[in-house]
Amino acid sequence: MQKRETTWRKLLNLHQEEYRIWLDKDEKRFQIFDKLAEDLERYVITSLQPGPYDDISIDDLCKRFVHRIPDVLGNCDNANMYDEDMAALAYAHVHLLERYRRFWDILLRLLKEAVLPMSENELEVLDVGTGPAPVLYAISDFYQLLQKFTHEKGYPSLGIPFPELSSVESSRELEQFIHAFSEVSQRSHGPYSITFRNFKGLDFNELRAETIEEAKNKWKANKGRQWHDYYDYGTQSWESYSEEMDNPMSLNGLYRYNFVIFSNFLTTESDVEMWKKELNATFLSIRHGGVVVVTGASANNKKYKPIYPIVREIAKETQLGRIKSVSGEIACEYSDIYAKRIKQHYDTVWTWIKSNSSIDDSFLESFRVGKNRIVKSLWDPDTNLQGPGSPNEFSLLAFRRNQRPPKLRRKE
Ligand SMILES: C[S@@+](CC[C@H](N)C(=O)[O-])C[C@H]1O[C@@H](n2cnc3c(N)ncnc32)[C@H](O)[C@@H]1O
Repeated sequence: MQKRETTWRKLLNLHQEEYRIWLDKDEKRFQIFDKLAEDLERYVITSLQPGPYDDISIDDLCKRFVHRIPDVLGNCDNANMYDEDMAALAYAHVHLLERYRRFWDILLRLLKEAVLPMSENELEVLDVGTGPAPVLYAISDFYQLLQKFTHEKGYPSLGIPFPELSSVESSRELEQFIHAFSEVSQRSHGPYSITFRNFKGLDFNELRAETIEEAKNKWKANKGRQWHDYYDYGTQSWESYSEEMDNPMSLNGLYRYNFVIFSNFLTTESDVEMWKKELNATFLSIRHGGVVVVTGASANNKKYKPIYPIVREIAKETQLGRIKSVSGEIACEYSDIYAKRIKQHYDTVWTWIKSNSSIDDSFLESFRVGKNRIVKSLWDPDTNLQGPGSPNEFSLLAFRRNQRPPKLRRKE
């Protein structure tokens, strides 16, 4: 990578428009979306067919899948739901494509305002409440195309290493989905596994201090010995040893992020109140120039309204600046090429289900789990994607660390 002689902001300002035009040329963005949709269709349909040793019929598998759909439409606040039978597959089928395209739109907004996170070292990304990884797949594809653009156009100072994708996700079923789906869709950069299992109790400052302590103890225990002909514990000081550890940013750079995302994760006021400490610790882990994105249902919706002021307050406490030009209520898209492709995805899967099982329109019309039902736009090819209950907009809050992170007191 060529040495950068100007700020990221200036570089992004210089090239952002050209990159957006390049993306639209030959529908590069759409092609990558179309491939994701095809991979997902194939994955869902294959998962609804028994393997050679399974003692279950297609009909039963389809019924189990159909049974979970009302939950992933109406019971998403319940963390236990994601480990129920077929929940990962049903959630991915209903939400993955929409959330993926939405996050691409967000990345383009950040790019346009020249605040897209960039780094000469690995860009450290953390997606909290990853689900089937729509955000990580979008980031992966977006930055990969950015790399391609910089090679093609000969802008080496804009080319950055591939992002390091970290995740926080409690559901084992979703982790299994991510692993299998990344594999079948041949994503060499993954993600293939989950980095952190529970947001509750997650404190990066503590994790960093523990890792440094462990390394220091190891260094003390080995002092005076030579190890692997490489680390010379005998003559090295702790400072030079810790600088040489595998992490190029040194131990102090561990658990610090350039880009943190909460996509449809902060969905109830009580959860957000409960996670204040974790949110604070996560916001503090943002590097200089790093960005936090919080996105979810519109703030004009009564249930979500109280959530965003709490988030803004924590951002203020942790000295993150609000990116006003990017934040706000954003209209949901129901008629562009991406929306049409999403509708086509639903049609493909449900046409297959109806042709290969006893499930038909009259069953689907009356099917309920509790008070949740299956929206007609999923299974009826003649019903528009936007129904009477569909949201008109979603909320986006973006914050940036414009100066060095505040110093934290070390725990004794
Ligand atoms: C509504 S989904 C959002 C998924 C994805 N980010 C999206 O935009 O579609 C919320 C996700 O958070 C996960 N989750 C809920 N509570 C969690 C916790 N305490 N720690 C980690 N993950 C959690 C759930 O398993 C679920 O995958």
